[in-house]
Amino acid sequence: VDRYAVMGNPIAHSKSPQIHRMFAEQTGQALRYDALLVPEDGFAEAVTNFLYRNDGKGLNVTVPFKQQAWELADRLSERAEPAGAVNTLMFRDGTLYGDNTDGAGLVRDLTRNHGVELKDKRILMLGAGGAARGVMLPLLEQQPASLHIANRTVLRARELVERFEEFGDLSASGFDAIHGNFDVIINATAAGLGGEVPPLPDNVIDKHTLCYDMMYSSEPTAFVRHCIEHNAAKALDGLGMLVEQAAESFRLWRGVMPDTLPVIEALRNS
Ligand code: ATR
Repeated sequence: VDRYAVMGNPIAHSKSPQIHRMFAEQTGQALRYDALLVPEDGFAEAVTNFLYRNDGKGLNVTVPFKQQAWELADRLSERAEPAGAVNTLMFRDGTLYGDNTDGAGLVRDLTRNHGVELKDKRILMLGAGGAARGVMLPLLEQQPASLHIANRTVLRARELVERFEEFGDLSASGFDAIHGNFDVIINATAAGLGGEVPPLPDNVIDKHTLCYDMMYSSEPTAFVRHCIEHNAAKALDGLGMLVEQAAESFRLWRGVMPDTLPVIEALRNS
């Protein structure tokens, strides 16, 4: 059977094998999908082994290898290029092709699964690392009215603004200098890993605000809890994004788009 895998470090808690197995079952595709723990300094070698020697058909890439995957790819999709990160690798026309499906996954979860229109909305992005950069272009393609990037290290937020300036109305600041409220707030910081929430001024979350945490865990995340406590209209975690980015990879590899809603539901209940 055709082989696929996700590479990361750590990788034990990855939901990707479960998600792709459900996609395969649902679409009647025969494939195998494994989670592979790759040593920090062994990524390129692991990719070569999997795709060339073991005849693997495609790879997902997660922390901490997304930037290395971007460098390794011979050819990049239009959306992976400015993202500076690749989460999907495959062979195409004899070359190693890299794509980034994270942004499409986020946008699809917001717009399709939750009916949140982004056009003409004022968006606040928390964080300016790889996770934020990876979703910037697909977000801006939705033509929001504006996108403000707030980050602990203001310089990184400014760099992100410079990089994507031509695609929309962008601005940057530290958390303490965020002004006014927002229609949509997206948390792309790693603060949640330590159970923390970026220190936001009080009036940033309004009763019409939709909050989205790109992180997901079986319990409500710290950011989701914070937004609910501050009376946000809605607070969503990143489970839908996780499944949607996987579906987009699956579509690239197999040419068929799986039905994501039953998979999201199955994971939510498991
Ligand atoms: P990732 O790929 O997850 O984005 P990263 O590139 O290391 O990883 O970026 C982590 C992001 O989370 C950054 O925006 C980081 O802020 P700095 O740029 O100031 O480091 C942010 N971050 C991490 N821990 C945080 C915390 N405790 N509070 C607020 N922001 C945090």
